[in-house]
Amino acid sequence: MRFKGKVVLVTGSSRGIGRATALAFAREGARLALLGVEPTEGEAVAQECREVGAEALWLTARVELEPDVKEAIDRIASRWGRLDVLVNNAGIYAKGDPVTTTLSDWERIMAVNVTGAFLCAKYALPIMIAQGSGCIVNVASEAGLVGIPDQVAYNVSKGALIAMTRSQAVDLAARGVRANCICPGTTRTPLVETALAHSADPQATLRTLEGSRPQNRLGRPEEIAAAIMLLASDEVAYATGAVLSVDGGYTAQ
Ligand SMILES: NC(=O)c1ccc[n+]([C@@H]2O[C@H](COP(=O)([O-])OP(=O)(O)OC[C@H]3O[C@@H](n4cnc5c(N)ncnc54)[C@H](O)[C@@H]3O)[C@@H](O)[C@H]2O)c1
Repeated sequence: MRFKGKVVLVTGSSRGIGRATALAFAREGARLALLGVEPTEGEAVAQECREVGAEALWLTARVELEPDVKEAIDRIASRWGRLDVLVNNAGIYAKGDPVTTTLSDWERIMAVNVTGAFLCAKYALPIMIAQGSGCIVNVASEAGLVGIPDQVAYNVSKGALIAMTRSQAVDLAARGVRANCICPGTTRTPLVETALAHSADPQATLRTLEGSRPQNRLGRPEEIAAAIMLLASDEVAYATGAVLSVDGGYTAQ
């Protein structure tokens, strides 16, 4: 019960890594605020959190819209009066190289993946600073560390999240707030299942993805959730500005 009594906000928690993360925090005693754009699925995850004994609040909001984020965080403050952990997990993906990427895909990805994380932190931080404690975990990607072909907007957005983490760490350390970043490798979630389904030969694409990393497999959402919780836990209170790869060895090559 490492997070007993703590209030944890996980964005994009209606499925995939966000859902696994919310459930993992719930099992360790946290009170969960779940935020995202899929209310039916999100309410179902909130119910799963309650079934393991946690309080849970679903908030329908788009992370890139300032009024949505402000209202959601106001609701957390009025419900629990505090916020201990923000997991900036909401993210979207589109294919495209530096020539084929459309301006609208570029702007959509930057809005959700970068502006969304900035806004959630912007409105969460006054609460954390007033408490004198708090912690942000930004979910970047292996794509923020190396150039993965044909996904330039996504790569750039994840590189920006790594830079945001370092900026947050240096600006907030003296105010009791930590910021760290996790770089997952390819993990079997709806995001990846959709990308596989759209490929010419899903089985061959899956084998290529698996074979591109030393562990020769994809990650499981629960493995990413466990690393997010480690960075959020008081046991690693000295860690701020850290960038943790959990990618089956992909970026070690
Ligand atoms: N799955 C992977 O292989 C992988 C690898 C590295 C990093 N990541 C990152 O991990 C995070 C979670 O990925 P996932 O694979 O679970 O994806 P997913 O598509 O399964 O889930 C993404 C979640 O974000 C939500 N979301 C989308 N747009 C939103 C918006 N505008 N506002 C609020 N919520 C929104 C979705 O509804 C969903 O709940 C993302 O940031 C992704 O880039 C994933």
